[in-house]
This record gives sequence, C-alpha cells and structure tokens, in this order.
Amino acid sequence: MKISIFGLGYVGAVSLACLARDGHDVIGVDIDATKLDLIRQGKTPVVEEGMVDLMKDVVAAGRVTVTTDAVHAVLNSDISLVCVGTPSAANGSQDQGAVLRLAESMGVAIREKAAPHVVVFRSTLVPGTVEDVLRPIIENGSGKKDGEGFHLCFQPEFLREGSSIRDYDKPPFTVVGANHDYPAERLKALFGHLPCNFLKTSVRSAEMMKYCCNNFHALKITFANETARLCAALGVDPFEVMDLVCQDTQLNISRAYLKPGYAFGGSCLPKDLRATTYLAKRHDVEIPMLAGIMQSNRNHVDVAVNKVLETGKRKVGFVGLSFKTGTDDLRESPLVSLAEQLLGKGVQLSIYDPEVHLSRLLGANKNFIERHVPHIGELLKPELADVVAEAEVLVVGLSSKEVFADLARLARPGQKIIDLVNLPNVADIQADVEGLCW
Ligand SMILES: NC(=O)c1ccc[n+]([C@@H]2O[C@H](COP(=O)([O-])OP(=O)(O)OC[C@H]3O[C@@H](n4cnc5c(N)ncnc54)[C@H](O)[C@@H]3O)[C@@H](O)[C@H]2O)c1
Repeated sequence: MKISIFGLGYVGAVSLACLARDGHDVIGVDIDATKLDLIRQGKTPVVEEGMVDLMKDVVAAGRVTVTTDAVHAVLNSDISLVCVGTPSAANGSQDQGAVLRLAESMGVAIREKAAPHVVVFRSTLVPGTVEDVLRPIIENGSGKKDGEGFHLCFQPEFLREGSSIRDYDKPPFTVVGANHDYPAERLKALFGHLPCNFLKTSVRSAEMMKYCCNNFHALKITFANETARLCAALGVDPFEVMDLVCQDTQLNISRAYLKPGYAFGGSCLPKDLRATTYLAKRHDVEIPMLAGIMQSNRNHVDVAVNKVLETGKRKVGFVGLSFKTGTDDLRESPLVSLAEQLLGKGVQLSIYDPEVHLSRLLGANKNFIERHVPHIGELLKPELADVVAEAEVLVVGLSSKEVFADLARLARPGQKIIDLVNLPNVADIQADVEGLCW
C-alpha cells in the first residue's frame, strides 16, 4: 500500500520503519527538517531498540521518502496515518494545535484528490475530537463529505517507548474506530496479520479507550507504589505482597470488578479501605489514591440520589436493598445509603428484596439497618408486584433473571426506572429506563 505518515516522533517514525519493512511504500511528513534529513540519510530520529538497523535497511531499500509537503504526501498515498504530538497545555487540557493545523492541510489536499483518501488519526485525542472538531475542518477544507469523498477513522496506538518495535509487532489488540467498513478494511489489510484481535468500534469509544488504557496503567503503578510505601512503613516486603496479589487471576488480574455499575459496599471493602487509610495515617504515609476511593464511591451514590430526585416524583420503589444480589447482608449497602438519603429528602419508599426478611435479620446486620433506616419494617414489601404498583419511580439494584422478567411483565408506560445494574432486557420493559451513567 502507499502510506503517508504525518509526524515522525516515536509513533510515526517506528510506524514508518515497520510499515516499510513489511513491504509498503511510505512517505514521512514532518515540519521538523532535522528529522527529515536524518531519515533521508537512513538514520533514526528517535532512540529506540532496533531502529538504527531497521531505518538503514528500509531507506536503502528505497521504500521511504520524506517531505514537508502535506498535499504531495496525500496525493501520492492511499492512506494517511496522523501521528503528530498532542501534549498537555498549561491548564492540563490537550494542546491540539498540531492536529488542527494538519486537518486544515488535509482538507486542502483532499480537495485536490479524486480517489477517496483514508485518514487515520493515531495521535491520542480526547473523545469527540475526530467527529466534532477534525471532521468539520476537513469537510470544509475539501468540500467533500466524510464517508463519501474521504474516510476518517481513529486507531489508538499502544506502543511503549523502549520496546516500540516489539510492541508494534505484538500489540494487545488492534482497535479501529470507524463509521464505515471501507477504512476498517484498509486498516485490516495493513494490520490484520498481527497476532492479536482486530476490533472495529465507534470512533468515540476508540478515542476514549486509549485514555482508559493509560489511566489504568497509571492507576496500577500508583496502586503498587502506594502499597509499597505502606509496606515499607510496616516492615512488610512489597515485592512479595504484590507478587501474591498478581497471582490471583480470578479476582485481581482479571475482568472481575471492571464493569460499570452501582457503588460498592458490604461488610469488607469499606471497612478494610478505612483501616488501610487509618494505618497509613498512623505511620505518616500518604496514600491519596487509596484514601480517595471511599469519597469517589460516595460520589457515585450521590449520582443515584440526584437521578431519583431529578424525576421530581415522591413515590419511589426499590428493587433490591442488600449490598449485592443473592445476600441479605445490609451492612454498608450503598442501596441502604441511597434509601437513607432519599428518606431524608421526604421521598416515600417501598422496598422489595427477596433475600431480606426483617424477622430473619440478626446481629450486626439487624443493628445496621435499624440504625440507618429505623422504620425499615414498614417499607419492606414481600411482593415485587406491590412495589411496582405503588411506585412512580423504580430504582433497580438487583441483578437477577427473575427480576428482569418481572419488570418486563409489571412495569408500566409512564413509569420511570433508574437502572443501577445495566438491565439486559430494556427493550422488553414498558417503563422509561434510565441508566445510572450509561
Ligand atoms: N510516545 C509514545 O510512546 C506514544 C504511545 C502511544 C500513543 N502516543 C500518542 O501518539 C502521538 C504522537 O506521540 P509521539 O511521542 O510520537 O510524539 P512526538 O512529540 O515524539 O512527535 C510528534 C511529531 O509530530 C511533528 N509534527 C507536529 N506538527 C506537525 C504537522 N503539522 N505536520 C507534520 N508533523 C508535525 C513534530 O515535529 C514531531 O516530530 C501523541 O498523541 C501521543 O499521545 C504516543
């Protein structure tokens, strides 16, 4: 394929070398003449393992040319990969200066080109940038429509500096955000041979997931480092601890707990986080990330409180009260805290939870609910049908097949459901279902 690459920093230079190695003709474009000169001489503009030899080989093979002329590059290629920098601005926002200027040049170039050019943004871009910002610039400049006269898509880059050629050849996956099949097919022709899944998704999800990946990496590093600081203060070996943590691939290093939903609660997570935070404080160890978790969890409950109050309705039915489906444990249940806050605002509650029977509650569990929702006995109903019948708004916090089926049968048009569990059968439910944050 004939490929133009805009921006010859780490991402662009490594892509240029690897694509040329794989037999493609590549035109490199950069505004930095020094980088272009280095490449012309068969030298690498970035320090990366394997790049010195690879760049020498591909330039000698005659598969690489470089230019500062964006129009020339577009006219002489089938597809452009945009890899310009998107650094932080002083206020923390993304500085999109380079990519905005480039979009203008792209528009001019595409105006002159007869065949529908494919533009693949590989720079990390805040969600919405391709569709809301770059597309209008290129459409205005070219006088053509995305999906007709040219094709835009977003393909996040996952290589890491230091191992970028290896990462190029073995990425975790190839993710392509595209609204049409054609650009995704072109990218499959370029990257489909790599030993990983090729996933086509919406442009916005592809933009967002790149941030999630980097945020998750940062979060994991900080988790290990906060743990190490606390371990050091306690005389515990942090390497041994983290190695053990990583050996659990069922609950720790796994998909577990990584699905959006309602707040966490129960008799373990909150109390153990609190004890950890206290321990750190006692040893003068700062662990702001771990210490911030409980606040974030409370913020999540607040979102649910506001969602219910914003309906302006006073009769609210709860489906579920315990901290998770299938248990009667009410201790630190975030549904109890939602109920408590709504009662405080004068909302009338009725509650159904198949596992929670007041007469059977014992010990700490009983004390907890009596302290937080003193008249719980008057609010609990034995039948879901009664709660649905009474409620103007239903809060669904129970995830069970029976509940899903009952809601499809019982909920009525005009009724509102605030969905905390990502109901799988929204289409079968007659009420107006609103997800907590989806
Ligand atoms: N560096 C990484 O490991 C990595 C990994 C994944 C994603 N990314 C993302 O990829 C993008 C590029 O990162 P990088 O580290 O390669 O950046 P970089 O700063 O090393 O290189 C960017 C290049 O773009 C050039 N440039 C700027 N404006 C241009 C224009 N109008 N036309 C042509 N070239 C232009 C610059 O001269 C520079 O050579 C960023 O959005 C980054 O967040 C980087």
